[in-house]
Amino acid sequence: MTSFSDLVAKRFSCRAYKPDPVPRAMVDQILEAARLAPSACNRQPWRFAVATEPGLRRRLVEEGFLPGLGMKWAGEAPVLLVMGMAKSFITHTLAPALSGVDYPLLDLGIAGEHAVLQATELGLGTCWIGWINPKAVRKIVRWPPSVVPQAILAVGWPDQLPRPAIRMSQAEMTKFLD
Ligand SMILES: Cc1cc2nc3c(=O)[nH]c(=O)nc-3n(C[C@H](O)[C@H](O)[C@H](O)COP(=O)(O)O)c2cc1C
Repeated sequence: MTSFSDLVAKRFSCRAYKPDPVPRAMVDQILEAARLAPSACNRQPWRFAVATEPGLRRRLVEEGFLPGLGMKWAGEAPVLLVMGMAKSFITHTLAPALSGVDYPLLDLGIAGEHAVLQATELGLGTCWIGWINPKAVRKIVRWPPSVVPQAILAVGWPDQLPRPAIRMSQAEMTKFLD
């Protein structure tokens, strides 16, 4: 079994996929990892729409993405997991009015990365896609106005080698307090 640190090092944004399908049991395992994520006040604001049908995936890429990034590769991913945010009064309105913290967006980030790391453990490639038109995506996945798409996770069998992560140093990102 891959250790957690290996898993974190192995994950990269995969932008080339083989056409082979992802078994439903694996999709369920990925969703289960997201389901178990923590969230502010345990509101669990995440919603997932799973697109595997080729026509639907094509529509998400052609109509649901914003232009300019050339993300046609995402249409090759056999699974597009659309992540939506369901609003709740406490964490969307009440708590942020006092703290200014965007709790639901934090929650979705955590749940999404749980999903990504579970997929990585299964040998799958993933890529977060945030360059989307939420209204267009919502129409395609038939969510009510109360659920707002925030990101799409492309999931599939990688057709490219992992790249090492380019990151700032720990010293640049961290301040140890004395
Ligand atoms: C919230 C979020 C949104 C992102 N949106 C996009 C996107 O729209 N298109 C894309 O190609 N990559 C997208 N990425 C991937 C980042 O570009 C990538 O994570 C970053 O460059 C670091 O590279 P790595 O993931 O390979 O380590 C996104 C990543 C995150 C976390």
